[in-house]
Amino acid sequence: MSRFLFVTDLDNTLVGDDLAMAELNHHLAQHRQQHQTQIVYSTGRSLTSYRKLTSEKDLLEPDVLISAVGTEIYHKGSETPDAAWSAKLSQGWDRDKAVATAAHFADLTPQSESEQRPFKASYFLTEQAAAEVLPQLEQMLRDRGLDIQLIYSGGKDLDILPRQANKGMAMTFLRQTLEIEPVSTVACGDSGNDLSLFTVGQERGIIVGNALPELLQWYHTHANSHHYLATAHCAAGILEGLRHFKFLSEE
Ligand code: GLC
Ligand code: MG
Repeated sequence: MSRFLFVTDLDNTLVGDDLAMAELNHHLAQHRQQHQTQIVYSTGRSLTSYRKLTSEKDLLEPDVLISAVGTEIYHKGSETPDAAWSAKLSQGWDRDKAVATAAHFADLTPQSESEQRPFKASYFLTEQAAAEVLPQLEQMLRDRGLDIQLIYSGGKDLDILPRQANKGMAMTFLRQTLEIEPVSTVACGDSGNDLSLFTVGQERGIIVGNALPELLQWYHTHANSHHYLATAHCAAGILEGLRHFKFLSEE
């Protein structure tokens, strides 16, 4: 057993089955203590919304928190996001212009204030409307010279992000900072905003058994032996995957 970089989504991936999470936490905490394994949470939530979750659930303190769909990186003990990462994202990003463009679409309902972040504008959008609105919105943003990406998750959440940011890109930035090899890195997720975690390269990927159709569809058409679709749900699925890849031993 040796040190690895463990990156996991929270809602419906790490969090969702309290008993299974307690068991996984026990193994991870032990591994971190013995091998300096790095525990990283990568969530769509803002820092505020993440803190709310920590008051409700028994989470381990992560070494790094990546919040707001990869757009903010918080190292342990710091209240301010990684400045080098923020500087990277500000290139070519014009949030006000993106928001003004989105305002042309009646089907886009802004999410709560807490989820509107410097490098993320978020909306609710129904699945029925999405097929029509997404290509039109993307075209209009491009026509206005905005270099963005749209991430649609769970058949309801739409995030507008800078081109240079998503969960996968944030993971790569962090992995390089920590000087950990892709093959010693494993990411876990269940929904659309986790997809980028699985498309970066040689990193191992665990898709939990309860993953949404949007991610399963990708798995069935693109996945390779670096990706593992677990049978078990949430944290139990993560544990299953970590054992599959031999990051954790069977006992
Ligand atoms: C989380 C965030 C929300 C985002 C969604 C999908 O629920 O709070 O703002 O749209 O993840 O990425
Ligand atoms: Mg999730």
